[in-house]
Amino acid sequence: MRTIDWVDGRIIAIDQTRLPDVLTTLRIDAVDQLVDAIRRLAVRGAPALGVAGALGVALAARNGGDVRAEAARLRSARPTAVNLAWGVDRVLARLGEGLDAVVAEAVHVLEDDVRRNRELGFRGARWLVDRLGGGPVNVQTHCNAGALACVEWGTALGVVRALRDSGALGHVYVDETRPLLQGSRLTAWELARMGVAHTVVVDSAGPTVIARGLADAVVVGADRIAANGDVVNKIGTYPLALAAARAGVPFVVAAPESTIDPATPDGARVEIEVRDPAEVVGDRPTAALNYAFDVTPADLVTAIITDERIICGKPVG
Ligand code: MRU
Repeated sequence: MRTIDWVDGRIIAIDQTRLPDVLTTLRIDAVDQLVDAIRRLAVRGAPALGVAGALGVALAARNGGDVRAEAARLRSARPTAVNLAWGVDRVLARLGEGLDAVVAEAVHVLEDDVRRNRELGFRGARWLVDRLGGGPVNVQTHCNAGALACVEWGTALGVVRALRDSGALGHVYVDETRPLLQGSRLTAWELARMGVAHTVVVDSAGPTVIARGLADAVVVGADRIAANGDVVNKIGTYPLALAAARAGVPFVVAAPESTIDPATPDGARVEIEVRDPAEVVGDRPTAALNYAFDVTPADLVTAIITDERIICGKPVG
């Protein structure tokens, strides 16, 4: 089943807010609905947001009205993952060629996501096995960079999937990923469906899992990679990179080329989404600064694996 798809002129997407208890889909016929789904993380994860942006422009064009205004609203539904604006802009560029061209481009972005993530998954698995001198490879991951964050397959979990298919996977440690639990709700659900042995740990235990030698590599996705190689990903990624550097464990980022943002020189220039404090403290009258993402400096990243290349220790843009 695809996380997001284009069926009969509308978007069908898994409602990720309901997982793991209920597997159900949303039928999205209008940009308003899509913006709402993105804001409340029913549709989430950088590559899936890129596809949502692309399909959203097709939806706007199909429905008539001011497509550029609808595209601008989509672009700014969430600020951090560059893929969203990338997907919107890819399809908007075809607007002058008519509806068929717009829909064809959006569907191309959708199909291409599957192909590119599969490619990067196997490239990442080969790199890890070479680097570590064989398997089984025990992996630590954070948030959800799986099929649910893409159309199918996944980025970091795409690497895990490829390791599994190559017979080189050991155990997977999954950070629960406060406050919305993308790790314990979504990644654990995906790994269970894949039949992969895994264990959830609280976020603050992540560095300890590394320090104790339980993980041979940390593999995560990214929401934006700046031109200097700084990596923006789910809050809590940076401490894992620090722990991995201290322990001499590879810290690997798996992301499609569309996550690289050559126009942003470094991570400090990336707008970090700050979400509703209620996600952290509920309705208690306590102040909470709910940063959704953090920046891992380029020098802590061992390798960035994309669908086209492996980047080790040099600028990416
Ligand atoms: O807030 P989310 O759930 O959209 O955050 C997602 C992440 O941080 C993922 O790690 C990232 O988008 C990469 S997904 C392949």
